Order: sequence, then structure tokens, then C-alpha cells
Amino acid sequence: MTLALETIGLDKRFGGLHVTCDLALKVEAGARHALIGPNGAGKTTVINLLTGVLTPDAGRILLEGRDITALPVNRRVRAGLARTFQINQLYPELTPLETIGLAVSERLGHGADWWRRRGTRAEVNDEIARHLEHFRLTDVCDERTVTLPYGKQRLLEIAVAIACGPRVLLLDEPAAGVPESERHDILAAVASLPRDVTVLLIEHDMDLVFSFADRISVLVNGALLVEDTPERIARDPQVRAVYLGEAQDA
Ligand SMILES: Nc1ncnc2c1ncn2[C@@H]1O[C@H](COP(=O)(O)OP(=O)(O)O)[C@@H](O)[C@H]1O
Ligand SMILES: [Mg+2]
Repeated sequence: MTLALETIGLDKRFGGLHVTCDLALKVEAGARHALIGPNGAGKTTVINLLTGVLTPDAGRILLEGRDITALPVNRRVRAGLARTFQINQLYPELTPLETIGLAVSERLGHGADWWRRRGTRAEVNDEIARHLEHFRLTDVCDERTVTLPYGKQRLLEIAVAIACGPRVLLLDEPAAGVPESERHDILAAVASLPRDVTVLLIEHDMDLVFSFADRISVLVNGALLVEDTPERIARDPQVRAVYLGEAQDA
């Protein structure tokens, strides 16, 4: 088993609150891995520790076997770890074509040259077209991002992350706030990415989780309750107790 991402004894406290407890997370290369758990379980904190937004109190993070625990955010991105960022805060006036073009061009080291050479660089243009197509953005590729429906904006955020060429993609509730009819499109686009990209997804909607994941880790109170296949997770009495308990509280 080749691991794309691994945490060893990862630990984080916010004052008296123990939010990540001796976490040993293993994400296999090529996996569609979901991290689930009740609200406040510490899922977003795990993503923040993985990306370097937060510093752990103890433990290590390995990306494809390489220890990245001490690397700052931007160097982790360069090492192949990507998360989405809010595209709408960055390029509201650009179109999806321009936004993805910038990301591809940046990755290939062409920088701002892309603007001048557009149309002459078949390789760049082909890749942009592929991302637009994969994320169902072709029909809106010339519209300003700020005018796009929210679901399309979320797709664009993921497309940009992919255009940066990551080995591992981290997604924290990418379909949150999107109308239900469009949520499956978002997750389907992510699930069908080439398998050389490993995906770790946090998602609240269990239908989406089970349609997406081939592996699931369940986090409760910052600790890993269980990690298994979706079939076995669905039958696991401990997991059912956690979720039924949550449903009864609601
Ligand atoms: N920066 C912070 N400072 C203090 N407490 C925090 C901070 N971020 C998160 N928490 C707390 O840590 C716990 C886990 O939060 P979070 O990782 O956002 O959970 P989840 O994403 O699973 O809902 C919660 O109790 C939350 O209130
Ligand atoms: Mg969260």
C-alpha cells in the first residue's frame, strides 16, 4: 500500500480544548477518502494542520513519505498538497477561462506570458479546455466569475486547485451552500479526476459521502473512531450510534 498522506501522533489543543488527539490518518495513493464526523469533531482542524495553516503541538505529517510537518503553507502546495481557496475573493472579474489559464500558466512557469501567447500555445489551451470540460464550465467559460451561479463558482475553485497540478487534494465541504440538485455534479467531477490525484474530502451529506468515497475515516472528539470501507462503515455499530445520537439531538 502506497500512502499519499499520513499523520503520525498528530495532536492539537486550543487552550484546554483537545481538538486533535494522537491522530493516525492514512490516505492511500489514488484514494477517494472521506473524513466524516459530527459537528465540532475537529475535521476542519485536521485540514488546517495538513495544509500548514495551523501548527500541531505534536506529531508528524508525511506527504508521499516526505516529512512536511515543518514546511510553510506555500511550500506544501509546491510539494503537491492543494486545497481550494475562495476564487470569488480573488478573481471576481475574470472569466473561468482566464482564471484557469492563469493557474495552468503559472504552474508551467509561463507567468504572465500566457496573456500574450494565448492561442499560440496549444498545450496550455488544450489543458485549459480539458479542465473547463471536466468541471462543466465550458458553457460559461467567457462569463465573469462574479456573475456565475454559486455551484459553478465552487466547481471553478476546484478546477483551479487541480490546474495547479496537485498530487493530493483536500476538500472541506466543497458542496456546502450549493443547491441540492448541483451537489452531486460537484462530487462526481471530483470523484472522476485521474487517479494520480488523491482526494481527501470532508463532507456532511452522507449520500454524497457514500457515492464518493472508497475509504472513510470517522473522527469523534478529535480522535479516529474507525477507518474502513464505506460498506463496513455503514454497518458499524459505533458509527451508527454516533450518527443516530446526533440525529436524536437535532
Ligand atoms: N482557532 C480556534 N480556536 C479555538 N477553538 C477552535 C478553533 N478552531 C476550532 N476550534 C474548536 O475546535 C473544535 C473542532 O472544530 P473544527 O475543526 O472546526 O470541527 P469540524 O470541522 O469537525 O466541525 C470545535 O470545538 C471548535 O469550536
Ligand atoms: Mg468543519
